[in-house]
Formats: sequence, C-alpha cells, structure tokens
Amino acid sequence: MANIKFYSGEEVPLEMHKVRIVQKLNLPPIERRLAALDEAGNNTFLLKNSDIYLDMLTDSGVNAMSDKQLASMMEADDSYAGSTTFTKLENKIRDLFGTEYFLPVHQGRAAENVLARVFVRPGSVVPMNYHFTTSKAHIVVNGGAVEELITDEGLAVTSANPFKGDMDIAKLEACIARHGAENIAFVRIETGTNLIGGQPHSLENMRQVRKVCDRHGVMLVLDASLLADNLYFIKTREDACKGMSVREITRQIADLAHIIYFSARKLGCARGGGICTKSHDYFMKMRELVTLYEGFLTYGGMSVREMEAITVGLEETMDEDMISQGPQFIKFMVDELHRKGVPVITPPGGLGCHLDALRFISHVPQTEYPAGALASALFLVSGVRGMERGSVSEQRDDEGNEVYSNMELLRLAVPRRVFTLSQLKYAVDRIVWLYENRDLIGGLRFVEEPKMLRFFFGKLVATSDWQQKLLAKFRADLGDSL
Ligand code: F0G
Repeated sequence: MANIKFYSGEEVPLEMHKVRIVQKLNLPPIERRLAALDEAGNNTFLLKNSDIYLDMLTDSGVNAMSDKQLASMMEADDSYAGSTTFTKLENKIRDLFGTEYFLPVHQGRAAENVLARVFVRPGSVVPMNYHFTTSKAHIVVNGGAVEELITDEGLAVTSANPFKGDMDIAKLEACIARHGAENIAFVRIETGTNLIGGQPHSLENMRQVRKVCDRHGVMLVLDASLLADNLYFIKTREDACKGMSVREITRQIADLAHIIYFSARKLGCARGGGICTKSHDYFMKMRELVTLYEGFLTYGGMSVREMEAITVGLEETMDEDMISQGPQFIKFMVDELHRKGVPVITPPGGLGCHLDALRFISHVPQTEYPAGALASALFLVSGVRGMERGSVSEQRDDEGNEVYSNMELLRLAVPRRVFTLSQLKYAVDRIVWLYENRDLIGGLRFVEEPKMLRFFFGKLVATSDWQQKLLAKFRADLGDSL
C-alpha cells in the first residue's frame, strides 16, 4: 500500500487512481422518495435506479472497472468453443490459484448450483463459518442442511477481534463427530464473510480447518467471492503474513482448498463466475452440469468480453493499492459513524459499512423487521439505497414459522472505486440525522411474501404512519434541501 502521510496528521483514505468516466446522478426530493418506497413495497431491491442517489445495495457487478479491463474487452475472441479469451482466463487462474481445472459459470450462485447438485444429498450436512443466502438455498433445495460454526466472537456486533470470520475448530470437530464424516458433503469457508459484516478469516484458521478436514477425509470448499477484501485483512492484520506478498497469500489460501468457487461480480470486478480445482475427479463430476445449466465449457454463460475483464481484474487483485481502496473507505465511514455514537459493526470489515438495526432502533421488535425498516427509513431521508441483511433475508422453516436472524443489519455496500469521500460524508450526515430521530422509525409487515428468497421480491408496508412523520421532521430540520 502506498505509504503517504498527511502533514496535518489527518487519516484520509487516498485514492491511487483517478476518475476518467463519470455517470450523472439524480437525487429526487423526499416526497418522491416516499412514493418510490411505496411503489417498491419498502423493499430496496424493487427501487428503480432513477430514484436513487447513492446505490449502496451491493458491490456485485458494480465495482468500477479499470482502463486496462475496458481495453481488454475490445480484444475478446468471440467463439463458442475453444476461445482464446477462455484460455487466457484459465491460465490466469492456474497462475494465481495453482488449480489445473477451471469451470466457467455465469455467476457465483451458478457455481453453488453445480456444487450442491453434485455433492449434496438428502440428509447431507454442510458445516460452514457462516451461510450466504444463495449458498444455503442451493444446499437446502438439494435436501441438505447448513451448520454455522462461526466463533462466538464472530456474532459480537462490536468487537476488536481482527478475524471475526474464523470458524470455530472445536465446533467443527463436534459437528463431524455428531453427523459422521460420511454425511458431511463438504466443509465451506466463506472468505470475507458477507452476512456478518464482511468479516475476514485468518490464513491460520483456514490451515486448522483443512487439518480437521484431512483427518476425517472431508472436502474443503472455499467461496472466494470476497477474497480481495480478505487478502487485504490477512496482509494487514495477521502478523505472520505481513512480510508475504498478496500473491503468496493467495496461493497459500488456494492450496488449502479442494475446490474454490467465486462470483466474478465481486472477485475480479466484472460479471461472471467460476469453479477451480486441482482434482480431475471433482472436475469430471461437475463438468456435465456446466454444459447443461451454464453453457459450453469455454464460456459457461459468460460473455467473452467479461472473461477478458475478469482475467485482468484477477491480476489487479494482486495489487495492494487496488485491494486496499474498499476497506480503507469502509473504515473511514465506520469510524465516523462510531465516533458519532451510531451503532455499527466493528471492527470495520470489507464489502461495506453495516448498521446494527437492533441497537439503532431497539424499540422495533424483530417481528417487525428492524433491518428492513431501517433500510426504508434511510432511503427516505437520503436517497441512499442499502440492503436488508436480517430476518427478511431469512426463510420460514418447514412449518411456516419465522426464522429470526442472529443479526439485523443494514448493509451499505461501498463498491470499489465508485464513490468519493464527500459522498460517503453525505451518507454519514444523513445516517447521523436519522439516528438522532430514530424514535420516529417504526416497523414493517409483509403484504406479499414469496416462499423462496423472499427478500428479492417480497413487499412490505409500514405498521403505522411513521414514514410521513419522518418526512415532516426532515422538512422541519432541513427545509427545502433535497
Ligand atoms: N457467495 C458470496 C459470499 C456472495 O457474497 C455472493 C453474492 C454469492 C456467493 C453469489 O454470487 O451474486 O454472483 O450469484 N453476493 C451478492 C451481494 C449478491 O450483494 O452480496 P452471485
């Protein structure tokens, strides 16, 4: 990372890139934002981008691409089979991960589909540090069950633990003993653990997990979608790795997994995905499903232009200046909010800044979806779109009972190299205003609730006229400001 000190002593995340293409943004007045929320059923997934000022829904497929990525897209070799573009990507993955075999898929969940169909059977168990929505859904659809073995510290919303994404090794041993190794489909480590606030695992933890897997003859699968952030945290927080290059850390992580899969909407800053392995046997087991569900083996549902961009994006992920930008901006936002007393997940992780809705609006019970309510309230007062990562993102159990999530988070993703510091300051300003007016925020209830992945399409309404009251207070405090 570039070592640049400010004479003033101020700690400011400084970009090591400049902006060369811009997109005009729109911030509609709060009255229109309320109407937009109404149309979207208070579900930020259903908002239209034209109503949004800062889109912090996700970093998926929306990280800024580099000039080199864009340039590479112009030299893509467009052929159904045997494209040179695919060979470049395959070679880059071999070079970085040391994996001989690469299966292309159209995005991360497509890899999860293939993995679950091949390795999960009714009654299988998949232990993991923590689930991700789509990874769990594919395991469950195939008759398997997920067991989350995150360390207790991982679920502590405020903490100084640098590796809250670590798996609890004793829990893993107990889980395998309880179910029998033959019933474990595979152990899954999610790097940069998404749903607990983009929290990393250490390299040492992964080594220990692999040892347990080896002892029991169980396969270890790495979801590397958020590898870029996790690499930065291993490099900066794990003493034993401080002298290692990002490339060396990458290779050591990759060597510990039997199968690596990733969403290239995140890793590589483009759009696509892949499954990588050293094992010819696993490769052969998965290969047919790729041609069945994704496309021929040399594109897997991706456009060749995207594959070119992924190849360059993966190489750029080895650059510390590149992987540090996201975490440093996120740290700035988390530190500012924390200083002002707003409940946020600490330590700052990757992916984004996470507001803790259970503390932010402690008067809204989990039955009224506090994280969803906070997402709705923040959009109303700022035009900032976040993503509910709480009970709305869970699924009812087989008897139709609600499954309340361990954490109720509003995730404000900070896509890499997209927003400026002043835009983050604007978001912080509105969040602080909202926190001071939090008593006005009420709950939500479903009016349309799909059975599967309800957070994508479900519609909710406010349980009272709290949104109108919030709007009136905004006008009273901020006058005619947008
Ligand atoms: N694994 C992780 C850890 C993810 O964060 C995601 C996607 C996936 C798998 C699935 O990949 O979207 O390409 O199919 N996360 C996005 C997000 C959706 O907004 O966090 P995908």
